[in-house]
Amino acid sequence: MDIDKIRSQIPVLAHTAYMNTGWSGPAPRRVAQAMKDRIDLELEQGTTTSGVYEAGKEIQEQAQAAVARIFNASIDEVMVTRNTTEGLNIVLSGLDWQQGDEIIICDMEHGSVIAPAQLIGQRYGVAVKVVDLEVHDSSETIATKIVAAFTSKTRMVFISHILYATGRRMPAEEIRRATKDRGILMMLDGAQTGGHIELDMARSGFDFYSIPGQKWLLGYEGSGALYIRREHLERIHPAHTGGRAIARPANAHNFQPVADSMEKFLGGSVSVPVQAAFLEATKFIEEAGIYNIETRNLDLAESAKAKLSEVAGVTVLSPSERRDSSGLVTFAVEGQTPISVVERLWEDHKIVVRQVGHPAGVRVSLHFFNTEEEVELLVGGVRELA
Ligand SMILES: Cc1ncc(COP(=O)(O)O)c(C=O)c1O
Repeated sequence: MDIDKIRSQIPVLAHTAYMNTGWSGPAPRRVAQAMKDRIDLELEQGTTTSGVYEAGKEIQEQAQAAVARIFNASIDEVMVTRNTTEGLNIVLSGLDWQQGDEIIICDMEHGSVIAPAQLIGQRYGVAVKVVDLEVHDSSETIATKIVAAFTSKTRMVFISHILYATGRRMPAEEIRRATKDRGILMMLDGAQTGGHIELDMARSGFDFYSIPGQKWLLGYEGSGALYIRREHLERIHPAHTGGRAIARPANAHNFQPVADSMEKFLGGSVSVPVQAAFLEATKFIEEAGIYNIETRNLDLAESAKAKLSEVAGVTVLSPSERRDSSGLVTFAVEGQTPISVVERLWEDHKIVVRQVGHPAGVRVSLHFFNTEEEVELLVGGVRELA
């Protein structure tokens, strides 16, 4: 990877140490350009004009094909969405829940897991069992705690693949093996994984998986992707739907639904400019190579954790073992609120990070465009504060 070349394509890096990809990644110039080009084409030629419409269709098809590659899944098992949360909701609101069913989540989950799960619980009388985790729980402990929560009523395990607050990589494959034996569904919130770590739906056997376009893939807000294992397609009812759910030929008297296709979830029209940016972002990531990205992010995170833990008064809240780690590094500074550290790092050094609540800390996102020099800048800034 030519890091200087990659950095030269991301304008925001010229004047900030951008370490907040876990919230929203900085767009490369060519990603923004793809969106601008499509807006200009629609502006000057008209969205439905011959050629423009077809080109828009082509962008959507290519974006779907890119998603299939990212997930290592078939094209008919994936769709482009508007964000991670939308994908999770499509699945949760589409399953045929029965009173007494149980969903297992963890206490360190994002609101996009907590709220949809709890609302399904309230609506259908489904019990949401929350497994409490400790920051320093090992992968074995986490898997054991989750498996211990299983009962004959457990219908789904719904967790993040990488926890947003600490960057812990969850032992998802181990948990999947345990769920599979018992016929329990497994859905993963991949808000912190797409474009960050290698995903492989064919090998891992996850049932449902949702990712965003705007974070580690470096696309724009308003884009994401969902995977549904083919065998489940028919049983997920489209909670929101539209004309693409009608099997043709059909009319209002003779309605035949599309049963086993992602088309039924698509509803109405989509933003082609946003999908153009999403597609270009996937190319940018594919050119760098997801394996290279994952390795570099882990190297940068390892270095940040080692250096931060040497600073007196700093506690690193992210896992130390490489297999449990990601490019997210969270730490607390004794005597300082996380928000004050976030503000000072910005004011003093133009470092962009964020605070998280549970556990309370400062979260740093290290993506492949970040450098060891930026890690040094961060650690130096934290040392001044501590
Ligand atoms: C774990 C997790 N889930 C869901 C989300 C929400 O993502 P989106 O805005 O793509 O729905 C985030 C965003 O911060 C997240 O970190």
